[in-house]
Amino acid sequence: MKSNDYFDLNDGHKIPVLGFGTYLIPPGEQTLTSIKTALNVGYRLIDTASFYHNEADVGQAIKESEIARDKIFVTTKLWNANQGYDSALRAFDMSLQELQLEYIDLYLIHYPVYEKRIESWKALQTLKQNGQCRSIGVSNFMIPHLQELMDATEIIPAVNQVEFSPFLYQQELMNFCHKHNILVESYCPLTCAHRLKDVILVDIGHKHKKTAAQVLIRWNLQHHLVPLPKSKTEDRIIENFQVFDFNLDNEDMKRLDSLNEDYRTSWDPSKEK
Ligand SMILES: NC(=O)c1ccc[n+]([C@@H]2O[C@H](COP(=O)([O-])OP(=O)(O)OC[C@H]3O[C@@H](n4cnc5c(N)ncnc54)[C@H](OP(=O)(O)O)[C@@H]3O)[C@@H](O)[C@H]2O)c1
Repeated sequence: MKSNDYFDLNDGHKIPVLGFGTYLIPPGEQTLTSIKTALNVGYRLIDTASFYHNEADVGQAIKESEIARDKIFVTTKLWNANQGYDSALRAFDMSLQELQLEYIDLYLIHYPVYEKRIESWKALQTLKQNGQCRSIGVSNFMIPHLQELMDATEIIPAVNQVEFSPFLYQQELMNFCHKHNILVESYCPLTCAHRLKDVILVDIGHKHKKTAAQVLIRWNLQHHLVPLPKSKTEDRIIENFQVFDFNLDNEDMKRLDSLNEDYRTSWDPSKEK
């Protein structure tokens, strides 16, 4: 696998294998600088959301980079308060305006809000049919949410973005998504840095002369998941991209797969009806 590789989406589009997360980077100068650094290093997928209040910075960084628009994959998300058919269409227009882009590569429903998510998904289908976004997907959807959506609507999500790491190894959800050709993106792939001192992680890192963060990112890639590590620190932005020059072997993968403890750093969507 190379740094400029892509995975195929179920709608014919392609997605870079590694993305850059932008949640909680302070908006303004710091977001601008971090994204410019990420683009210089080689990241080609930027993950934002209207909820992050940094879409304008993301758009500006892309505009100021010398990289062609079609070489950068931009994801943003529909916030909960804007779910519903008409309000989702309006929220999408707002995001497009903030980002100052003509289209979005991937638009996600941020969270499976009960009694709203199906109408929201219908709006996303309209946006895709109109060509305003290339791909549509969901985030924080568990198997029952996905099943309900697939039973009630026409388009199968291209992506499901969920919290994922060896410490939250949601194997059943991953297998369900893979079976239905839904690509899984991993958010909080570094466990928000809470588990980087884990002895097994560190040991595997030593074996490959890599850091714990790099091992976590590599584990995702080898499971055919797109990780979205976030950092506002230049050295770490670089470090997190240096994951294409080593391979975890079967034993490493097994040891990492065994770390599950259902450890969440973010919300628990299995509680959403
Ligand atoms: N869809 C959703 O509901 C949802 C929810 C949460 C997140 N996300 C997306 O997923 C992205 C990633 O998740 P996240 O930001 O919550 O967590 P994360 O990427 O797991 O961890 C980020 C934390 O790890 C630190 N870090 C980064 N690289 C490091 C390294 N090499 N060594 C040591 N520490 C390192 C960062 O510090 P510094 O920044 O200070 O360097 C930051 O504190 C978000 O930015 C967002 O785009 C989506």
